[in-house]
Amino acid sequence: MKSLSLVAIILALAACQGAEVAEKLGAQSRSIASIIVDTLELVKVQMVQGWPQYGIPPLAPLQLKHKEFDLNAGELHAKGAFDDLTVHGLNEFEIKIIDLNLLLSRLKFEFHFASLNVSTQYQADVGANYRMTRNGGAFMALEDLNISGHIKYSTGIVGSNNYLRIKEIIVNVVTGNVVSNIENLSKYRILNQKINEIIEEFISLTVNDNTEFFADWLDSTVTPICNDMIGDRTIKDIIGIITGS
Ligand SMILES: *[C@@H]1O[C@H](CO)[C@@H](O)[C@H](O)[C@H]1NC(C)=O
Ligand SMILES: *[C@@H]1O[C@H](CO)[C@@H](O)[C@H](O)[C@H]1NC(C)=O
Ligand SMILES: *[C@@H]1O[C@H](CO)[C@@H](O)[C@H](O)[C@H]1NC(C)=O
Repeated sequence: MKSLSLVAIILALAACQGAEVAEKLGAQSRSIASIIVDTLELVKVQMVQGWPQYGIPPLAPLQLKHKEFDLNAGELHAKGAFDDLTVHGLNEFEIKIIDLNLLLSRLKFEFHFASLNVSTQYQADVGANYRMTRNGGAFMALEDLNISGHIKYSTGIVGSNNYLRIKEIIVNVVTGNVVSNIENLSKYRILNQKINEIIEEFISLTVNDNTEFFADWLDSTVTPICNDMIGDRTIKDIIGIITGS
């Protein structure tokens, strides 16, 4: 009986200890999460100038003078070029969730973009069963874009080589609305509008229905690239690079 109550006391103490450790980790998780949010806010501002020292151009807006493309989608073939391409809104996202769990080594995130859009001049040779040459202005937008997911990581053994390793990246992309406004696909306005509607539907389905495929691709492709880029840097080093301190 005596030994039983001793066991109960030890268990109770252990539980309290555990709760205390969990509470500490919880507080630490929250404070690191707020550092991540602050860092992302700095990233948004820095995107205007880019990171020239790392060869990254201004991203907000992102501008390309000239870019050739060669698309082959089954029957349809399009070859041409974009001129004066501008991507707006890369830094105009709202950080909805940054939730770090140090115990599980997992970072959950959710970002919301009101509008991520591209405007450009284009010229294209489009061939299916026929060939035609087209040029004009084009505008496309993903509106109400929701990017969420989680990153699982490990930080190795603290003290020795505690550099960061990404274990898994899962990203879900959902777009509320797609806008396509490509001029001059057809000389008939009604037909041009119809083609744009088909493109809108196609993009919407591509983004919203391929979430799993995209997540798999990202995890298998981007995870090793991330780890390559991280090299033997720690989280601290990386935040330092981003914030330039
Ligand atoms: C393009 O995106 C930017 C940034 O989100 C936004 O301010 C602008 O209104 C958008 N343009 C159009 C025409 O929707
Ligand atoms: C539409 O495309 C034709 C054929 O390339 C071109 O002659 C015409 O200038 C274009 N119109 C506009 C408004 O860009
Ligand atoms: C964004 O997407 C995630 C996962 O698909 C979902 O859980 C979340 O509720 C969405 N957020 C909004 C604001 O729609």
